[in-house]
Amino acid sequence: MENSGAEIHLRAQDVRRSFRIGGRRIEVLRGVSLEVARGEAVFLCGASGSGKSTLLYTLAGLERPESGSVWFEGATLYAGGDSRAAAVRNQRIGFVFQGYFLLPELTALENVCLPALIGSRAAQSQAAALLERVGLADRLHHLPAELSGGEQQRVALARSLINDPGILFADEPTGNLDSRTGEGIVELLLALVRENRKTLVVVTHDAVLAGRGDRRLEIRDGLLAG
Ligand SMILES: Nc1ncnc2c1ncn2[C@@H]1O[C@H](COP(=O)(O)OP(=O)(O)O)[C@@H](O)[C@H]1O
Ligand SMILES: [Mg+2]
Repeated sequence: MENSGAEIHLRAQDVRRSFRIGGRRIEVLRGVSLEVARGEAVFLCGASGSGKSTLLYTLAGLERPESGSVWFEGATLYAGGDSRAAAVRNQRIGFVFQGYFLLPELTALENVCLPALIGSRAAQSQAAALLERVGLADRLHHLPAELSGGEQQRVALARSLINDPGILFADEPTGNLDSRTGEGIVELLLALVRENRKTLVVVTHDAVLAGRGDRRLEIRDGLLAG
């Protein structure tokens, strides 16, 4: 996928981020640069605490870096204030959080509709179609508590796609699942983005799963290694 003619969909340049804990400052991202081509599936791995989530959130427009830049679809993400970043995020970026983050009082269908115009008929039929696609046609009206972990993660996948984003980010989407269920989720994630030619950036600490994408990156000592 890394041919020179490919369109760059996401680009980070010299991204830095540190946290102050007690009196100590830890430098989590020490100048991270990367380019992801449109339609590429990149897996980002690294030890626990190495900065995977921090980098993913920064790439997805959720956490402003201290310095450095992120470009997405040719526009810089953090210039122009937080409201612009939020608008881009809602419309063009899908995010699957570690631990699903479904609203417990809403059904699967309502959870998937949530990022779209709530109550709109189009959103409802689109949400139902997505739930069908992820294998949950007979679970539309179940509450999260009535679903297994793997099913909840499928709902979260469907929800991340409701606005038809160009790129999907997922933070340890298999982290809370047994290895077989996790493998199914990664297969589904890859199938969904390949069907629709979406770009994918996935964080995982599972080295085997990380080999399933087009490219594997490792974060170590605040920098990326191939
Ligand atoms: N909001 C925060 N405040 C202070 N420290 C943080 C914060 N977020 C992350 N960190 C620290 O930054 C480091 C990297 O965290 P994180 O990106 O969550 O790592 P990973 O996802 O690879 O496990 C950890 O040492 C973590 O404790
Ligand atoms: Mg993390």
